[in-house]
Amino acid sequence: MSQTVPVPLGLPMKRDAGPFDPPRDITRLREARPVSPLLFPDGHEGWLVTGYEAVRRLMADNRFSSRQDIGVLHVPYETPGMPAMTEPSPQVPGLFIAMDPPDHTRLRRKLTGAFTVKRMKMLEEHISDIVERQLDEMARLAPPVDLVKEFALPVPSLVICEMLGVPYEDRDSFQANSATFMEKDVALDEKMAAYTGLTSYLAELVTSKRATPGEDILSDLARDDDLSIEELTGIAFLLLLAGHETTANMLALGTFALLEHPEQLAELRADPDLMPDAVEELMRYLSVADIFYRYATEDIELGGETIGKGSTVVISLLAANRDPERFDNPDTLDVHRKARGHTGFGHGVHQCLGQQLARIEMRAGFGGLLRRFPTLRLAVPAGEVKLRTDMNIYGVHALPVTWTETER
Ligand code: HEM
Repeated sequence: MSQTVPVPLGLPMKRDAGPFDPPRDITRLREARPVSPLLFPDGHEGWLVTGYEAVRRLMADNRFSSRQDIGVLHVPYETPGMPAMTEPSPQVPGLFIAMDPPDHTRLRRKLTGAFTVKRMKMLEEHISDIVERQLDEMARLAPPVDLVKEFALPVPSLVICEMLGVPYEDRDSFQANSATFMEKDVALDEKMAAYTGLTSYLAELVTSKRATPGEDILSDLARDDDLSIEELTGIAFLLLLAGHETTANMLALGTFALLEHPEQLAELRADPDLMPDAVEELMRYLSVADIFYRYATEDIELGGETIGKGSTVVISLLAANRDPERFDNPDTLDVHRKARGHTGFGHGVHQCLGQQLARIEMRAGFGGLLRRFPTLRLAVPAGEVKLRTDMNIYGVHALPVTWTETER
């Protein structure tokens, strides 16, 4: 393949094409070389994969190990002070997002029953109630309000807390710790302090559930003697973090995107049956969980390139979901599009365990919000909305919105 494309130093991150679009350099790379060499700031060489086909192949190929990623920890090369990693990272007990089969399979299997489509369907009504209650509370406030604080964060947090059996009253501490933890540029010791804060809290919780189990997912897992307290803690950490950060950002950034595409919003309001397709399209278009890491356990051919054994491979799901080879007019938000097949929930053995839950939350969340607030609009100019370019999961830090009270 052509060597004429300059090799980028570090991962291009700046959202210079607009708040919803991939960084221009990422798009350029996908057009020129969808499997492209990448130089990490420490001089270590790796690869960046941006083309849809290559991303799907890579994620379905277990020779690409997930043990590079330290999973949701995301402390690879960009973090100052981190040693260069030239081999798979040590496994954190329970954190199966950063494990390979068979360790990954053993732990994921313990959870598939709790997240089946059927189980999620049974939760649908309850999730709608949670959404409606949160909207009631928001409606009592005098606008403008921050949609993240009043709606997008509470809904998935309430849902996952209830499912796991984590007391929602403890949210201030775990939400603050997960926020610090998901921040990119925070000092490593601060990140680790947040991690320890969260894991000691969860270790205590799962220990008490092992002694006196209740009716929740963590209690069910705690009844299983095959799982150690350390593993239970790791699983709890993964589910709690993955279960609220991602969906919260989809709800907030999705609302922002709809408000910025009024004709699409009007069509969705006019025909609520479009909601399931609109949710898939928002997942494709926004891909808030964008960047993932893998590690090549042997020399592997991908997209006409040879990825050498030991290489770090960075995946951009957002770039893949905007690939014109797979989606027509990929940079257009189209609520009528059949976007299934997008990679917003990943692909292969690590494909999102909570995807059905997330879909139900998003359908209920967007549906309820649009119905209850027909005059919803931004309370600040779009350019003033603070974007989460500094976080591992993209979205907005706050979304100031307002509405016309008499018309509500
Ligand atoms: C994995 C995205 C909601 C739990 C993943 C992966 C993606 C993703 C891209 C693949 C990671 C990889 O290949 O390394 C999202 C998005 C969500 C969402 C965009 C919201 C819109 C949830 C929810 C849960 C959840 C609500 C609730 C429990 C998980 C878990 C994994 C995972 C446990 C790891 C699966 C494995 O390694 O086998 N998610 N997710 N996610 N997600 Fe989600």
